[in-house]
Amino acid sequence: MKKLVEGNETFQKTLNSDRIIYDVPFPSTRFQGSKRRVIKWIKKQAMKLEFDSVLDCFGGTGIVSHVFKKLGIEVTYNDYLKCNAIMAKALIENRDVTISTKKIANLFHPTNPPYDDFIQRTFQDIYYTDEENKQIDIVTQNIHLIESEYERCLAFFALFQACLIKRPYNLFHRKNLYMRTSHVERSFGNKTTWERPFDELMIQFANEANKAVFDNGKDNTVLNRDALSIEQQDYGLIYVDTPYISPKGVGVDYHHFYHFLEGLVQYKRWNEKVDFKSKHRRLYSVDNPWHDKERIHQAFNLLFEKFRNSIIMVSYRSPGIPSIEELEEILLKYNKDVQTFERKHQYALSKRRRSHEVVLIAI
Ligand SMILES: C[S@@+](CC[C@H](N)C(=O)[O-])C[C@H]1O[C@@H](n2cnc3c(N)ncnc32)[C@H](O)[C@@H]1O
Repeated sequence: MKKLVEGNETFQKTLNSDRIIYDVPFPSTRFQGSKRRVIKWIKKQAMKLEFDSVLDCFGGTGIVSHVFKKLGIEVTYNDYLKCNAIMAKALIENRDVTISTKKIANLFHPTNPPYDDFIQRTFQDIYYTDEENKQIDIVTQNIHLIESEYERCLAFFALFQACLIKRPYNLFHRKNLYMRTSHVERSFGNKTTWERPFDELMIQFANEANKAVFDNGKDNTVLNRDALSIEQQDYGLIYVDTPYISPKGVGVDYHHFYHFLEGLVQYKRWNEKVDFKSKHRRLYSVDNPWHDKERIHQAFNLLFEKFRNSIIMVSYRSPGIPSIEELEEILLKYNKDVQTFERKHQYALSKRRRSHEVVLIAI
């Protein structure tokens, strides 16, 4: 195993110094496993390398894609969640469309009846109050009526972020509206934020998203696929930030954590996809090797083999499954050189004292 410490930069390739670097803020987002806290460090790692196009295979919030976009690189963003792909359309693919405050405010009016009340009927006492469920029903159906694709995606971005910020833990993994409404002392959470109204929150997030929109002169695109089904192309670099699997073998199931947002984007067909046996009305689960400790090694093998001609940059949180040594071994099967960079980092919700942010670069 080769291990390099920070600052020992033996790579010959560096980003051209004459490249324009855009200074554009990324909106505040709440998302499990987002690279927000370490984004400057990730950027520093990427800037050691020379490449003109990137595939962000597990794009999540899009914050890493947005950094690549700011470096003037042609970005292909991918995520298997529809809600994430929609946010990336708004922030990565979109060059110049913004959405007005007035348009966001108008989404709250039932101006195009009849309106379905699916959320009110299905999710009573689960995530939001009755009044909020009614608002989400109306806003969602109005967003689906917006004609401009990027305006629609910006409105969804604002709705998703408003939905997340009002949730305990920012997730939909449990029926726990009671945490907001019961009059008990809380050791965790933010009552003031949870009680902020949807319209105020959506306007705030739409404004933040508007500020992130820019044109880097490249055709940036968004895919919404299982990472292993992405077609091979000559990407200069592929960036790989897979779901985390703990040393005990517990993987993050994103489809489960964010099923409510996935439902919003398929509002008319949501009913067919809900597992009504689950207390929190999740969607039927989808098979995914990337959070399965038995299949994750094989999945990495397939991905690295497919993109063996690209520089491969893997974000990894240690300790986890596979181990760093196992990942390096897999990368070495397909690449000549593998270097590993570590950064100490404490995750907000982690009970473990020491977890490390790691980047592996294979050329
Ligand atoms: C660790 S997060 C990525 C975080 C992202 N880099 C960021 O900073 O926001 C992993 C992402 O992988 C996505 N994902 C999970 N399984 C996937 C699959 N089979 N194909 C593509 N994306 C997948 C999840 O939806 C999630 O957004």
